[in-house]
Amino acid sequence: MYKTHGCGELRLAHTGETVQLAGWVHRQRDHGGVTFIDLRDRSGIVQIVANPGNPAVQIIQDARSEWVLQVSGVVRRRPEGAENPNLPTGEIEVEVTACEVLNPARPLPFMINKDEDTDENVRLKYRYLDLRRERMQRNLILRHKVVKFMRDYLDAQGFIEVETPILFKTTPEGARDYLVPSRVHPGLFYALPQSPQQLKQLLMVAGVDRYFQIARCFRDEDLRGDRQPEFTQLDLEMSFVHRDDVLALVEGLFTAMIPAVAPHKKLLSTPWPKLSYTEALERYGSDKPDLRFGLELHDASGIFSGSSFMVFQNTLKAGGVIKLIAVPGCADYTRKEVDDLTTFAKEQGAKGLATLALTAEGVKGTAQKFITPAELDALKAQAGVKEGDLVLFVADTKAVANKTLGALRLLFRDRLGLADKNTLAFAWVVDFPMFEWKEDEQKWDAAHHPFTMPQLSDLARFDTDPGSILSDAYDMVCNGYEMASGSIRIHRRDIQFKIFQLLGLKEEDIQRKFGHMLEAFEYGAPPHGGMAPGIDRLVMLLADEPNIREVIAFPKNQAARDLMADAPSPASDKQLDELHIRVELPEE
Ligand code: AMO
Ligand code: AMP
Repeated sequence: MYKTHGCGELRLAHTGETVQLAGWVHRQRDHGGVTFIDLRDRSGIVQIVANPGNPAVQIIQDARSEWVLQVSGVVRRRPEGAENPNLPTGEIEVEVTACEVLNPARPLPFMINKDEDTDENVRLKYRYLDLRRERMQRNLILRHKVVKFMRDYLDAQGFIEVETPILFKTTPEGARDYLVPSRVHPGLFYALPQSPQQLKQLLMVAGVDRYFQIARCFRDEDLRGDRQPEFTQLDLEMSFVHRDDVLALVEGLFTAMIPAVAPHKKLLSTPWPKLSYTEALERYGSDKPDLRFGLELHDASGIFSGSSFMVFQNTLKAGGVIKLIAVPGCADYTRKEVDDLTTFAKEQGAKGLATLALTAEGVKGTAQKFITPAELDALKAQAGVKEGDLVLFVADTKAVANKTLGALRLLFRDRLGLADKNTLAFAWVVDFPMFEWKEDEQKWDAAHHPFTMPQLSDLARFDTDPGSILSDAYDMVCNGYEMASGSIRIHRRDIQFKIFQLLGLKEEDIQRKFGHMLEAFEYGAPPHGGMAPGIDRLVMLLADEPNIREVIAFPKNQAARDLMADAPSPASDKQLDELHIRVELPEE
């Protein structure tokens, strides 16, 4: 071994011991002939000191940032006044007796020892250097702890981890597939799984009963801060369970895990609240509500049923709604500030924003000229509007009003600091619609995925009103993110076939794409269900990071590129020939 101790392990108790250390030069300082190095390895940092006349002083003086050194020395108490209370090793230092340069380093593209704002593309190009930084090491370790906790917990609950193939067949989760050409079967392609959905269901048919996997998923979709083209799920599935059995298992896992891996985070409530999809949209304007604060949406349609304001009248006549949020303490907003909110509302799809400011001097805002004293009283009594509030109204279809006010609610969360970052407000959203109408394709699509069980009481409306059918799907949400999705699955061939048909698949397509699933359901498939929390999103939240790239060792950038290895990159002619692939690029 190159070392007897980790740099960060040394304490007063080691005083007098001869130790050997190996690590990187974190920082080097010269104080009138006495040279100091902060030597760093994964365990932490320790101060190395070389006085003039020391045999190693020349090497210590020559060493530069991120050189790799091996140091022998004696641990001693730091002189009084020279202690560093910010460092776990701050009471001691190591007086060097010998030093060897294991490897020098070129000047770095950015500093490791400072948390400065380096361009993310530079960080990603030199990810191996970026990962040396304390923040990134912390994230890697946290992720390790999360995954280890999941494995141990599920093992104790009788789950077994099974690996499923990466080279597989299309497994739709709403994104495009990544395709892999087959050399031995020219013209044919594997698809990388968008999730192990089908395979885990087939494991239930296989009698595995309780399965989990730390599963890599691949989705070719537009990237955002909380999305990567490949990401990791805790994928799990259980046989002979109802919805609440799955929810209880996952809630138990997370409730036990948070204090163990992120003790500074508090759960807002246990047991977690359960909201229906409809309730989540009505009250928070989102199917992934942030429950850390109030500012709920109110439906004021009833209050304004006799309104003289044409926009309100016409909206109600057309079957729309008038909804509001009342933002506390913002009644003194300027004209410009209100205009900016209106612009924001329009970007969300609203036609406008009516405002009412309840100032100490009276009522102001665009709604002031038409609102009656009775309507104002009703707002106060029914919607809790009070002095100091800036009330924002959207009159539109329910969908647009909810979406716009839901977005405004989050805008004020950030602007007014309404949500505590160390609070985790987990909740379940249940009773999702089974299908959603795709306006551009003029067809029904599965709201979760096509293997989700419709609520059997709704099956009668299958052919007449598919949009009203609810499914046995559920989401786990936290602080405004969708953390996990799952459902009770279809395990009967006839229902599965009908769903595929309703989704517009022709019989031969069903057979070609999903014949193996339908056939499996004919051989004694047990009732089953499960879910899949996204590990990247979870660790991002626990680590207080703004996006999931920070908690993935080697992520793709926003343009789905690996900047370090420069991928994707062209294939050689020989490779393409073997695959019988010809590349034809569109003209620029
Ligand atoms: P779903 O598609 O909702 O469900 O995904 C489950 C969870 O995976 C995470 N996630 C992502 N994380 C990072 N980047 C992405 N591109 C990305 N896409 C999804 C989210 C999400 O909640 N097979 C079903 C699960 C099931 O029914 O059991 C599925 O994949 O946290
Ligand atoms: P207008 O009558 O179009 O001049 O609008 C009067 C006020 O009502 C303006 O402040 C508009 O922003 C607002 N407004 C217009 N359409 C809507 C709507 N659909 N919902 C809420 N407010 C609206």
